[in-house]
Amino acid sequence: METATLPPRLLALLESGAPLAVLTGAGVSAESGLATFRGPQGMWEGLDPASLATPQAFQNDPLTVWRFYAWRRRQALAAEPNPAHVALAAWESAATGRFQLVTQNVDGLHERAGSRGAIRLHGTLWRLRCSVDAHEHDDFREELGPLPPRCTCGAPLRPAVVWFGEPLPTAAIESAERAAREAALVLVAGTSSTVYPAAALPRIARAAGAYVVEINPEATALTSEVDLHLRGAAGRLVPELARHAGVTSGSA
Ligand code: OAD
Repeated sequence: METATLPPRLLALLESGAPLAVLTGAGVSAESGLATFRGPQGMWEGLDPASLATPQAFQNDPLTVWRFYAWRRRQALAAEPNPAHVALAAWESAATGRFQLVTQNVDGLHERAGSRGAIRLHGTLWRLRCSVDAHEHDDFREELGPLPPRCTCGAPLRPAVVWFGEPLPTAAIESAERAAREAALVLVAGTSSTVYPAAALPRIARAAGAYVVEINPEATALTSEVDLHLRGAAGRLVPELARHAGVTSGSA
């Protein structure tokens, strides 16, 4: 569907500045050149998540896991925010009502585009935390050495991302669930909606009465449950929706 023919209810929600929550996934960074996880070119097609993105993997082979995340940081640093990131940052600044960005992405591109209040459900590549006491260490930008550095307690530091089998940060998921329950409009962009609890958020929102729009070039596990599936790239569609909300970001 072209956004020129958006349903009247969606247009009314956008134009009135109704409480908005936006959930993003790896597809939002695809146009910045970062690989998604699933699908034919997805990272988990050629790489085994169990040996790269689990606490057991880090315990058994910290060097391989460390190298994987060093590679991910290099990829993320080489990428630039795209019009979807830029439009969401502008939307946050311009919003008069509630605006809550919730991301599963760890690449930092939302923040680099200017988003300030994003809830990071899966952590970030740009912080480290102690593998024993979970204490977080400062943001950093520069490339780290070939081995995980040590915490002051002596344990190896690990990326401050959520690995398979680990719980999400409690404050993050609780705030995200609250935003989902309180939103009148939810945009779900660039996620396959297969990883929980993030994938439950649009369902929570819809059960609480929100109008849920999915932005994705493909059908997903969520598509049959949304009010509207806008089939296409986030880099085009997110700025278009933002414009309907009166937000211009200079991103299109
Ligand atoms: P996936 O790789 O599962 O899904 C990416 C989605 O983005 C797919 O549905 C694509 O169709 C869609 N997509 C691709 N290009 C797009 C574009 N230009 N615009 C909009 N959509 C596009 O990524 P996630 O759903 O984010 O978790 O994955 C969820 C979690 O699984 C990740 O956070 C990560 C991963 O394993 C952890 O590492 C804990």
